[in-house]
Amino acid sequence: MDLSKRGTFGSKFGIIAAVAGSAIGLGNIWRFPYVAGSNGGGAFLLIYLIIVLAIGLPVMLSEFIIGRATQRNPYDAFKKLSPNGHWYIIGIMGIFAAFMILAFYSTVAGWTLEYIYQSVINGFKGKSAGEINQMFTSFNTNTLRPVMWQVIFMLMTAVIVLGGVEKGIEKYTKILMPLLLIIIIILDVKALSLPDAREGISFLFKPDFSKITPNVILSALGQAFFSLSIGMGTLITYGSYIQKKDNLTSSAAIVIIADTAIAILAGVAIFPIVFHFGLKPTEGVALVFKTLPNIFAQMTGGTIFAVLFFVLLTVAAITSSISLLEVIVAFFVERLKMKRINATIFATVSVSYLGTLCAMSEGGFSNFRLFNMNFFNLFDNTAAKILLPLGGCLIALFVGWFYGKDKTWLEISNRGKLKVGYLNIFMFLIKYIAPLAIALVFLNGLGLFKF
Ligand code: TRP
Repeated sequence: MDLSKRGTFGSKFGIIAAVAGSAIGLGNIWRFPYVAGSNGGGAFLLIYLIIVLAIGLPVMLSEFIIGRATQRNPYDAFKKLSPNGHWYIIGIMGIFAAFMILAFYSTVAGWTLEYIYQSVINGFKGKSAGEINQMFTSFNTNTLRPVMWQVIFMLMTAVIVLGGVEKGIEKYTKILMPLLLIIIIILDVKALSLPDAREGISFLFKPDFSKITPNVILSALGQAFFSLSIGMGTLITYGSYIQKKDNLTSSAAIVIIADTAIAILAGVAIFPIVFHFGLKPTEGVALVFKTLPNIFAQMTGGTIFAVLFFVLLTVAAITSSISLLEVIVAFFVERLKMKRINATIFATVSVSYLGTLCAMSEGGFSNFRLFNMNFFNLFDNTAAKILLPLGGCLIALFVGWFYGKDKTWLEISNRGKLKVGYLNIFMFLIKYIAPLAIALVFLNGLGLFKF
């Protein structure tokens, strides 16, 4: 590979916008509320925040360090740093994770497309909560419609990746993502002005410690990794584009704060609606789609707001899905020496096939159950609760024990130019806390090991 041709992010804002574009997506607005709702609300949020700070931040920084130090994709980065080791397996696991995540991610993005359509034809107007609930159920149990939207979404993603216009997309997302934030804040205000908003807010913010179980902790770990796009090496690739003069730590910190803030703001909009309209927080994957339309159905200008919201949510999903597809395409091109166009077509077709299983998991495949899960939940859980934590654990072990303190210091201090007063804390977290915590949460949560 000719390294002189490798691009870099032009500015600090450019890095943050790109990494935030990958991190912020359906994970914040669709997945966070549904997982928090199914895992006890406040207790989940508390554990989530601790994990983001004590594990998420160090692992994200580790991926940046490996990426910028080597200027390689994940597979080659580990090969370069450890030619005889097997750390490159992290890169291979990342490919599997990307496949699985894209399969259900494109399914949910497809639901979002359906909801753009419903908003345009004014489909929520005047509907009761029960009818809005029924609307999602009848859509999702339909065998072809979710598949159609899922395939359309994958085609949109593929066209962008093929056209190589991701950079052009980034230009628009710098305007569109702040707009999404504004709409979420307006929805927050609406939700908070519901007469019984307090109930939803205390569900999200008041921890009920009796709700904490090993599976709740594992769910929080998986959600943190998923939402921050860590544990599969994607941010190694992003790190490889960061300039040598930029500050890795503050970039990671800003992305983490933005990502977490958006997830919480989404929760603040959703939970008051849940309780006001007599829904259950444990609704599962459909939670966002069964709650927000109730507000759109009632507010003035609700149709326009609904269209805007679902369009912007689709944009947020696309900026994440292009980077997920890129993980697979880059691997096919660089490792298997495929042509870019063939790699993209092959990746898109195989993801769409897996996606079809997810999209039909309540329709044509509703009878399929493995470990008591349908295809959708199987992929969702395997990626978030197994592959990402495992990848994150290995990345932490790699930087903590193999790469070591001296080289880590060189990279995060920009060869001594920045002061790194937190080096010892970082090394402690990455050597002991992160790997041990992940391993314990993992084994305990899966029930492989009991305390
Ligand atoms: N973080 C993304 C979201 O919250 C989803 C995601 C997980 C992702 N892993 C990724 C995106 C890797 C890009 C690359 O929606």
